[in-house]
Amino acid sequence: MANAVRIDGKAKAAELAEKITAETAALARDHGLQPGLAVVIIGEDPASQVYVRNKKRTADACGFHSEQHSLPPDVSEQDVLDLVESLNNDATIHGILVQLPLPDHLDEHRITQSISPAKDVDGFHYINIGKLTAGDTADAFIPCTPAGCMLMIEDQLGADLSGLNAVVIGRSNIVGKPMASLLLARNATVTMTHSRTKDLPKVVRRADIVIAAIGRPNMIGGDWIKPGAVVIDIGINRIEVTVDGEKKTKLTGDVNYDEAAEIAKAITPVPGGVGPMTITMLMANTLRSAKLAAGIDVQ
Ligand code: GUN
Repeated sequence: MANAVRIDGKAKAAELAEKITAETAALARDHGLQPGLAVVIIGEDPASQVYVRNKKRTADACGFHSEQHSLPPDVSEQDVLDLVESLNNDATIHGILVQLPLPDHLDEHRITQSISPAKDVDGFHYINIGKLTAGDTADAFIPCTPAGCMLMIEDQLGADLSGLNAVVIGRSNIVGKPMASLLLARNATVTMTHSRTKDLPKVVRRADIVIAAIGRPNMIGGDWIKPGAVVIDIGINRIEVTVDGEKKTKLTGDVNYDEAAEIAKAITPVPGGVGPMTITMLMANTLRSAKLAAGIDVQ
């Protein structure tokens, strides 16, 4: 029998979305302002199509203005930059997101850095990364996945993580690095690990908070987990399984859930953990951007 609390990201995301929807209605009523989100998708990557559809659907449900710009896989970099520039100058748009990954001929850095930092609701612009790293977040955007993870960690352990060891597995710019900055800002003792780390299981065994963002299905076994740890699984891996002799695919995280749930205090499932929170944090960032643009106080 699993001992751990199963952290229900879907329920928490729905609760947050409800608050965002209410605040959006109040913004329209009191200020005549509607948050606007533009999502740019290039090419036909099936996973990206699903993510973008979900982002647009959630934005509409929250009462936002939303637009999707679908560009062909062979679009020129200049055409993408021109579109971003027009969205940067569009007063009805408060958040711009270019869905990654991009086709190989496009320069990801050039494109993400062309988005105005004031509309960078993904938090990928170097200005926003710099503000997060420096702890100057009053008007910065925090990347959505790490921001959602922090809310779930706070629910389990409170806002102050003094004295706790956090181990982040994976050093991506989107997840691992911003996660480390956020944990550090909450006074955790943070260890960054990655594919070149020596004796990774031993390092993870010291963690009161485990953040798994490696992209290797079920890599983290129960024997890696310190009793009572909080485990946040960011991995979304599609694996093949055979059900009644039929080959199917299913989503699984980086952590062996059943094993880890025996040992941990709390753990996020995949799916239904971090994923739903990520989309809702995008809405929170877009609402925040609209308020900042209008000079309305944000916390
Ligand atoms: N692709 C996978 N995750 C993300 C994300 O958070 N933002 C963008 N823009 N693309 C992604």
